[in-house]
Amino acid sequence: MGTSNNSINFALFLLLLIIALISPLFYALEVSHDGRAITIDGERRILLSGSIHYPRSTPEMWPDLIKKAKEGGLDAIETYVFWNAHEPLRRQYDFTGNNDLIRFLKTIQSEGLYAVLRIGPYVCAEWNYGGLPVWLHNIPGIEFRTANNVFMNEMQNFTTLIVDMVKQEKLFASQGGNIILAQIENEYGNVMKSYGAAGKAYIDWCANMAESLDIGVPWIMCQQDDAPQPMINTCNGFYCDSFTPNNPNSPKMWTENWTGWFKNWGAQDPHRTAEDVAYAVARFFQTGGTFQNYYMYHGGTNFGRTAGGPYITTSYDYDAPIDEYGNLNQPKWGHLKELHGALKSMERALTHGNVTNIDEGNGVSVTIYATNETSSCFIGNKNSTGDATVTFQGTEYSVPAWSVSILPDCKNEAYNTAKVNTQTTLMEKKKNQAENEPVALQWTWMPETTSDTVQHGKGHVAASHLVDQKVINDISDYLWYMTSVNIKDDDPLWSDDMSIRVNGTGHMLHAYVNGEHIGSEWATYGIHNYVFEKKVKLNPGKNQITLLSATIGFPNYGPYFDTIESGLPGPVELIGRKGDESVIKDLSSHKWTYEVGLHGFDNKLYSSDSRHASKWEAENLPTNRMMTWYKTTFKAPLGTDPVALDLQGMGKGEAWVNGQSIGRYWPSYLAEEDGCSTEPCDYRGEYGSSKCVSNCGQPTQRWYHVPRSFMTNDVNTLVLFEELGGNPSLVNFQTVAPGTVCGNAYENKNMELSCQGRPISSIRFASFGDPQGTCGSFYKGSCEGGNDALAIVQKACVGKEKCSIQASEDVFGSTNCSSTATRLVVEAVC
Ligand code: GAL
Repeated sequence: MGTSNNSINFALFLLLLIIALISPLFYALEVSHDGRAITIDGERRILLSGSIHYPRSTPEMWPDLIKKAKEGGLDAIETYVFWNAHEPLRRQYDFTGNNDLIRFLKTIQSEGLYAVLRIGPYVCAEWNYGGLPVWLHNIPGIEFRTANNVFMNEMQNFTTLIVDMVKQEKLFASQGGNIILAQIENEYGNVMKSYGAAGKAYIDWCANMAESLDIGVPWIMCQQDDAPQPMINTCNGFYCDSFTPNNPNSPKMWTENWTGWFKNWGAQDPHRTAEDVAYAVARFFQTGGTFQNYYMYHGGTNFGRTAGGPYITTSYDYDAPIDEYGNLNQPKWGHLKELHGALKSMERALTHGNVTNIDEGNGVSVTIYATNETSSCFIGNKNSTGDATVTFQGTEYSVPAWSVSILPDCKNEAYNTAKVNTQTTLMEKKKNQAENEPVALQWTWMPETTSDTVQHGKGHVAASHLVDQKVINDISDYLWYMTSVNIKDDDPLWSDDMSIRVNGTGHMLHAYVNGEHIGSEWATYGIHNYVFEKKVKLNPGKNQITLLSATIGFPNYGPYFDTIESGLPGPVELIGRKGDESVIKDLSSHKWTYEVGLHGFDNKLYSSDSRHASKWEAENLPTNRMMTWYKTTFKAPLGTDPVALDLQGMGKGEAWVNGQSIGRYWPSYLAEEDGCSTEPCDYRGEYGSSKCVSNCGQPTQRWYHVPRSFMTNDVNTLVLFEELGGNPSLVNFQTVAPGTVCGNAYENKNMELSCQGRPISSIRFASFGDPQGTCGSFYKGSCEGGNDALAIVQKACVGKEKCSIQASEDVFGSTNCSSTATRLVVEAVC
């Protein structure tokens, strides 16, 4: 008995072994393309994709984000690879935590989605230095992104490393994995001219180098209209309907559909409407598109010092379909989900059909995709003011201005990009319920011990010029520039009116003369250089000048962005004025000594296991004091809702929770006053990043995401390093969750409401007719159904996590509305 069992087991084992060995051959996906479509495993596809950058969220967040992307109708997740995160020091690699690229790709795979790997390794992305390590800049003889051997060797080394890692895990589709496309370089076509012939040589080299890595799936290059074959050039922008690739064999692909925009310190909150994003996507598919990627689908957070610059904020929310905290940004997420459903239902006609275009005039066009068995249609209206009534094959369709109607069977309108049937969700910050309100956080503090440096100008390195701050390889934001100057009272400079003048770049300067802080300066948003000038009192004899420069993200875009000087390129001058005459003493080529970083960072004051734990003081807590460390403990807010740290009242600095940096903060920097409108945002007409902005005159960023995984159920520590001076008494933790939800459904559609997992507590407003206003301020219009809408909706929704009601006269009674746009509008409280 035993023997035969054993031999059966052995045979089974052998069988399994053979299956395991050959399974990659079975499951390998063939990815190919022609001018019309991408084919995966023999199926011609249209593909919907979304960008989620792994380091901008945490591994604990990834499954939920990817599930929401899948639920939103995406086929693929796109990410860049962030070289400087992985190789912070030359040949020292980090693939842990947020940087665990393989884990991210496998999470995408286990959720059943494809992946698009944009290796770059220059990525732009509002990421520090565009993703290139700053140490690269300091290799002798290097020139970035051009035919330069030093650069190309480093780029090839990193690209090969990534490809090898991915191959090892069998993640390329050709190996049975989920990566269907890879990208080399990024938008080089936008800057190539500046590099002359060497630029062309470089991009050809990029193509060859990529090809030689033999990944078995197509390579793409974005914004590269001379992309060497077989690279596919793709489009980035707010609209890509008029894009045509440079080769008839390349399908029409859109790698970056900007769903909103990024934010700078000093700038307002961007907003791109759901209607406009949907319009752009529908037009893209109307005009023959095959692959479309939302940049971003989830923007996330620039933790630590990863924000690009200068002046990119810590939040990278981007007004994306999933917000920074991982909540659905409604109606954008849902309106696009519906669009994806409509597009997918016509995949066959779109990828196989013959195309006929009918120009109806005045910006209106009908496109028919027809095969022998099926046909699908689009009616587009690109007129930004005029609504259109189009008669097509005997039926009349009303197509609002700047919208596209989708008719999967060429008869019934399944979707119109301007008619939003998805709820609007207004997010609310709620007080931390784990603390006993209103007890405030209890703070301790420590001064940053600058005095030695400031008083005596003690630096470890000397040079007879002002250095570019990149010399320190970005190991810290802070670099001290120190010099002393001897001035006798018979010096021609000497006068009653003396000042110091410093030319700075788009970072921050704190200036000290003879041990005293005389002022700080930073660039105004949009203008990256500044001149700091301040009166000084000098002593006859020796004077100590100490300038602290703090970087706020290195530039990430433009030709030669890598060589833009940072820190204090100078000149640094002393000026003596006598009447109309001034005497200038240029200190730029004096002997300067340099010191990197701040003591508090060296002593790891942000970390809970710092040796200096006992030195924190509870007495005489200072406010508005520069260069101050603050520390407190707190309990994590109850529940599972995402957590935001409210840094209202603070100046500028960096914050850590349990030793993990949640990013730079700067709430004292107010967003520009102008440009916000009280009028509702009009989705019609071309979007630009200054359209529909909000938050004018308010702190650019008041709330900072603290991922749940950074906190424990026990006691947590928050440390702030305050550079300018602030008051921590208002600092508090809050949770972020849907507050008010507003449902909207046109006649005969279903109105769905959801509080994302919590019960709907009450209904504030309900009307079936032509209600006016926007979510938060609805009012009844001129007509309404005869039944009590409020009571009907209350009955169907209150106490439930979600509810669905048909917007029809059957339910709400006849309306006598003359308008065609009869709809049900509901405002509910979560
Ligand atoms: C593109 C770039 C992206 C990102 C985007 C703006 O030009 O490829 O990486 O920077 O602009 O968000």
